[in-house]
Amino acid sequence: MRVCVVGAGHVGLVTAAVFADLGNEVVCLDTDEAKIGSLNSGDIPIFEPGLSEMITRNQKAKRLSFTSSYPKAIPNAETVFLAVDTPTGSNGKSDLSNLRAAAAELALHLDDGTLVVVKSTVPVGSGSMVRHILQESCPAGRRFEVASCPEFLREGSAVADSLRPDRVVIGCSCPDAVAPLVRLYAPLERPLLFMDVNSAELVKYAANSFLAMRISFINSIADLCEEMGADISHVIKGIGADTRIGGHYLSPGIGYGGSCFPKDTAALASSSAEAGSPFTIIEAVMEVNHQRVPRFVERMRTVLGELNGKTIAVLGLSFKPDTEDVRDSQAIELVQALLAEESHVRAYDPAAMAVAQRLLSNVEYCANAYEAAEKADALVIATEWNEFRLLDLQRIAASMHRPIVFDGRNIYSPSEMADFGFHYVNVGRSLPAVSL
Ligand code: UDX
Repeated sequence: MRVCVVGAGHVGLVTAAVFADLGNEVVCLDTDEAKIGSLNSGDIPIFEPGLSEMITRNQKAKRLSFTSSYPKAIPNAETVFLAVDTPTGSNGKSDLSNLRAAAAELALHLDDGTLVVVKSTVPVGSGSMVRHILQESCPAGRRFEVASCPEFLREGSAVADSLRPDRVVIGCSCPDAVAPLVRLYAPLERPLLFMDVNSAELVKYAANSFLAMRISFINSIADLCEEMGADISHVIKGIGADTRIGGHYLSPGIGYGGSCFPKDTAALASSSAEAGSPFTIIEAVMEVNHQRVPRFVERMRTVLGELNGKTIAVLGLSFKPDTEDVRDSQAIELVQALLAEESHVRAYDPAAMAVAQRLLSNVEYCANAYEAAEKADALVIATEWNEFRLLDLQRIAASMHRPIVFDGRNIYSPSEMADFGFHYVNVGRSLPAVSL
């Protein structure tokens, strides 16, 4: 099948690569000519396991190409995916200007019978907006249909998630019109859920907000554990064993970040308030998340005293492991908070150093975790990269000024850390009884 994907961001690139790999003829379009130039010369702008190989393989097989030209890409495509970004605008609302611009440009070149599928995360009503824009500007007599097919992939496992989604949500007012979409997804052999466009659009916000709610919930329980002398790891086991609850998205820590949860919770809160039905649960979820870093820093102060002048090693800057993405990263917020306290921060991340350097000056960037820990007053785990789990902790303890670890992602065992001689502070457990 002939497919065009508009938008060469995370979702667009992965969608284009996966459909090409399934044997379709795919053109990926982006108005950023520099990005298209890089992609055409084999330079993939994002770090995503398996993506680069998949793109190269399909470029060589002539099933995947990149362009910035609408007239070249659109007239040929039976199905056009809109995967442009929808960043947070004013008051938490989604900024739909990229979607509007893409729809307006697309309209001018639309072939008869094209299925236009909105993949971007968009507020309810956006499908109707796209339909309206297409109707206004497409050549006379052209028929088209608009569907919604939200994307649920996670960064760091985007290719695997796209090849094996839990479900594919397809929203359309005309069931026959989505036949091309059904054919495209058929080889994956995953459940397809059909519904109207508004419901499909809301599914995405509801899913992300629900997951964010689980994280803020468990973080609030972690706070209680700290105050009441309980252990969060036991509580998680105890509640997660209930099959009605399950164990996913219950890892406590310094909070959720990234390009989706913060943006999507804010958009749902703002659109529900606008619809006259304020979503108070989501407002609380967001507030709990905003308090994670200040609370963590306060705990550091309780143990270390004034943070001013202290040397703090921070391991991890990306918003989660296996990505270089630092958008809305809690780790970055933590470094900023420490800098505001006039601490001296020595940071290391396996993938996000270059991007972080553009955001944070006044930080000493280190070549590895051992260099960062050297003579530090405390070491902080801000992102749970696997390589931090496997550090030579004896070496770290010996090299620090004082062997104190603040673990914002609970990656170590308290008893092991005590054996290595660390004063180990983590999330959801009381502060160690031993004084420094
Ligand atoms: C998320 C959704 O999972 C995905 O379905 C959607 O398409 C995009 O948004 P992503 O942002 O890539 O994906 O990351 P995810 O792995 O879900 O983690 C989001 C944030 O939550 C990270 O900052 C992570 O550290 C945090 N998190 C996750 C927790 O703090 N605790 C958890 O238990 C799980």
